[in-house]
Amino acid sequence: MYRRQVQLLRHLNPQGVAAPVQQPTRASSAALMHTSNPALAPADSAPAGSEVERPFSKVVVYGSGLMGSGIAQVAAQYNYQVTLVDLNQNMLDKGQGYIRSSLKRVARKKFADDASQQTAFVDNVMSRVKVSTDPVKPVEDADLVVEAIVENIKVKQSLFRSLDEAAPQHTVFTSNTSSLPIGQLLAATSDQRATQFAGLHFFNPVPQMKLVEVVKAATTSQQVVDSLTAFCQSIKKSPVHCNDTPGFIVNRLLVPYMMEALRMVDRGDASVRDVDTAMKLGAGYPMGPFELADYVGLDTLKFITDGWYKEGEGLVGDGLVAPSKRLDALVAAGNLGRKTGKGFYEY
Ligand SMILES: NC(=O)c1ccc[n+]([C@@H]2O[C@H](COP(=O)([O-])OP(=O)(O)OC[C@H]3O[C@@H](n4cnc5c(N)ncnc54)[C@H](O)[C@@H]3O)[C@@H](O)[C@H]2O)c1
Repeated sequence: MYRRQVQLLRHLNPQGVAAPVQQPTRASSAALMHTSNPALAPADSAPAGSEVERPFSKVVVYGSGLMGSGIAQVAAQYNYQVTLVDLNQNMLDKGQGYIRSSLKRVARKKFADDASQQTAFVDNVMSRVKVSTDPVKPVEDADLVVEAIVENIKVKQSLFRSLDEAAPQHTVFTSNTSSLPIGQLLAATSDQRATQFAGLHFFNPVPQMKLVEVVKAATTSQQVVDSLTAFCQSIKKSPVHCNDTPGFIVNRLLVPYMMEALRMVDRGDASVRDVDTAMKLGAGYPMGPFELADYVGLDTLKFITDGWYKEGEGLVGDGLVAPSKRLDALVAAGNLGRKTGKGFYEY
């Protein structure tokens, strides 16, 4: 069981910088929408003539925090009708605020010298984002649910249990969890939902990060995997597929890599700085493993590896994630990386 493992993630932009948002030309948007006003076209679009499959029409996103607001934004940008749900209006106001400012940045790039086009674009996308504090009503006609609430298994299970009762049978349930097994989340729902449940793991910041891990639980149907793949493509993300295993793809590879770098330094085989330089200049990585660890947060890295080491029960090779005294000492001293101003480096 790996439920205590992580939240690596806010971090899992190993480049440490946001990738540039790719925007279409005005002409391509306008051509697709048959409109002369590109601000009213989708934010991006396939070349004229190509068909983008849209497997869902109504998307409901639970949690209007960092991830949920980003997911709602991209879905609305690509013309989905979205309802964003959170516990109270304050949270929703915050989420809508994130979306609006993110869209304004997109609009400034897209319509650099035209303030009225910028406003029209933002208002148009925002018009597709409804908000609600009703915990279940929005799913009554939902095609896709994306859950991005707090990383707590009991809270997530309780939400999915109540949504399962209210949602139609065709509704596909997904979780954006970084660390919880999808199988344990879907266990809270009815047997009929078991084929309609998967992981949909976006990366932060959602509007800029292209990757989505589509996570197939043991019971997820191939049809649902295909629909989620098409959904990701329709919002201009690049989906990858993986089974419901600890860390999915990205974290599963990055965490042992960072721990192996630590072991190398612990043995005295190379210095922190030289390992980072080697991986940047020799392997072409944008950050070395210690820079990345500082960026992720050393407490987060320790939390993940401790969880995998103690609870992995062979799911992750213990040798790959064995504790590191150096890491433990830094965390005990409160040197957690960039967020505290000191980790492997000083900031
Ligand atoms: N932050 C990241 O970098 C990152 C990256 C990938 C995945 N994730 C995952 O995404 C999920 C959300 O993370 P986040 O960073 O956006 O969190 P966050 O704390 O920014 O937002 C969570 C939101 O969920 C709301 N919420 C809590 N319980 C709710 C409920 N029952 N119904 C509706 N809303 C509820 C909270 O009020 C809050 O607004 C977590 O599962 C996390 O593991 C996070």
